[in-house]
Amino acid sequence: MNEKVSALLNDQINKEFYSAYLYLDMANFYSQKGLDGFANWYEIQAKEEQDHAMLIYQYLQNNGEKVTLEAIGKPDKTFTTLMDPLKAGLEHERYVTSLINTIYEAAQEAKDFRTTQFLDWFIKEQGEEEKNSMDQITKMELFGDDARSLYMLNSELGARTYSAPSLVL
Ligand code: FEO
Repeated sequence: MNEKVSALLNDQINKEFYSAYLYLDMANFYSQKGLDGFANWYEIQAKEEQDHAMLIYQYLQNNGEKVTLEAIGKPDKTFTTLMDPLKAGLEHERYVTSLINTIYEAAQEAKDFRTTQFLDWFIKEQGEEEKNSMDQITKMELFGDDARSLYMLNSELGARTYSAPSLVL
């Protein structure tokens, strides 16, 4: 594998685990606020991020590439309002999209079409994650100030269940 592509993928493992940690911190915030549905949603999100990391880890190993695991950073966002994690989540997902795009570009330049094909799933996944984040912000803007509506929103997010990623290596 092209050295740059391999290094970027290796780095992305760390970024995905950091994402998991960030979402777990959001779950933690909502849990402390008594919003167990929001907490559930973000706990599942954290699991999905770990799946993303493991998919890249497995992909590198399947291709005979050495994986180096680095330290995972401390979640560095401060949340005050119920809206804060939602906005931070969208900003973070946009950042992750840019990282995936960079790897995709490097793979294309190296004519590493196996990797671009592997990344297609991530490109689509990022689209879904950004949409989920935007939808949540919209709902919070519309209903967040009303206690009864917030209760229903919390129930809706509490109904989310985990399912393993659709991408199988
Ligand atoms: Fe792994 Fe939320 O992107």
